[in-house]
Amino acid sequence: MGQVLLLSPVFNMFMILVLFLSMKAVNGGSSTVPAMFVFGDSLVDDGNNNYMTSSLAKANYYPYGLDFYQGATGRFTNGKTVIDLLCEMLDIPYIPPFNTPNLGASRIARGVNYASAAGGILDESGFYLGERYSLSQQVLNFEMNLSELRNSVGVSENLKHHLARSVVVIVIGSNDYINNYLLPSLYASSHVYRPQEFANLLINALTRQILTLNSLGLKKFFIAGLGPLGCIPNQRSTGEVPPDRCVDGVNEMIGFFNDGLKALVDQLNLKHPGSIFVYGNTYGAIGDILNNPEDYGFEVIDKACCGVGRNRGEISCLPLQTPCSNRNEYVFWDAFHPTEAVNVVLAQRAFNGPTSDCYPINIEQMARL
Ligand SMILES: *[C@@H]1O[C@H](CO)[C@@H](O)[C@H](O)[C@H]1NC(C)=O
Repeated sequence: MGQVLLLSPVFNMFMILVLFLSMKAVNGGSSTVPAMFVFGDSLVDDGNNNYMTSSLAKANYYPYGLDFYQGATGRFTNGKTVIDLLCEMLDIPYIPPFNTPNLGASRIARGVNYASAAGGILDESGFYLGERYSLSQQVLNFEMNLSELRNSVGVSENLKHHLARSVVVIVIGSNDYINNYLLPSLYASSHVYRPQEFANLLINALTRQILTLNSLGLKKFFIAGLGPLGCIPNQRSTGEVPPDRCVDGVNEMIGFFNDGLKALVDQLNLKHPGSIFVYGNTYGAIGDILNNPEDYGFEVIDKACCGVGRNRGEISCLPLQTPCSNRNEYVFWDAFHPTEAVNVVLAQRAFNGPTSDCYPINIEQMARL
């Protein structure tokens, strides 16, 4: 991204006001969200990879889902994902994975989850983990389902109106670092690009996909920034730092991506009146948890609840492995993913947090537009 628009805070406040007024005029202030469409990686995948024979990135076995009412479903945590929790807050049923066989028209009326573990913004990210849907494939999958969606919405409402009021949640980019840029023996990216350049490349590719979804009729976007990946057990276990320290260099790289994403939502909000693009400050929320774990009731911040090796971060939960018993006291469930207890905090902050959590507005406000 060559030029990034820099906007003054006063101008931003003005933009938010204009945005509210223009969207109210378009949608008449209706408060119910008809559907949620999810794009992303294992942080929000709810079972798509179960159906991929060659994928190594699966979570459809115990102890994943240990605290979920359906058990192991392919969710990469012990309980609910952020998406499940947002569905509860928005009064939407849990969203079926795109790959569910014979997903009937009635079940897609409230949304579809296209997210896929090991998938990245770049098509090549995560390739050594086998089959997965990259973001661009997920967007194609959504596009292929527009006719089914038209049928599911039916005569009561036209598809255009349905999509315009639906919420889109995008959680992607972690694999472009963990399973690409940070693996110099498998990927050339870190030999070719400096961290700032790589972040720009990701933001440019992400922008194209967001604009495609927008041109297909989706208008309400929540785009999560990246968490402090230098602090996940997988990165702490690399041996570069003492096990109780985060890898600062990795967190710095993530900062370039997050800064770019925040600037992007300003640009998009300016150029696409009638649509809203929100930046979710995942980094800030997880950072706060890691800096003040006792405020949230967490006891263990550097070790996974389940897994093998240093910080239980070298290998993810093995099938039938017994996890820690006190899951609500752990920040990390496995080498890469947070526990449900952390997801609860993230979902709450995404739903009704202040501008430091969700910028320029939160999901609750976005839903009311
Ligand atoms: C989406 O489209 C694909 C490809 O045409 C199809 O196989 C699948 O059943 C559709 N899924 C939904 C949720 O409509």
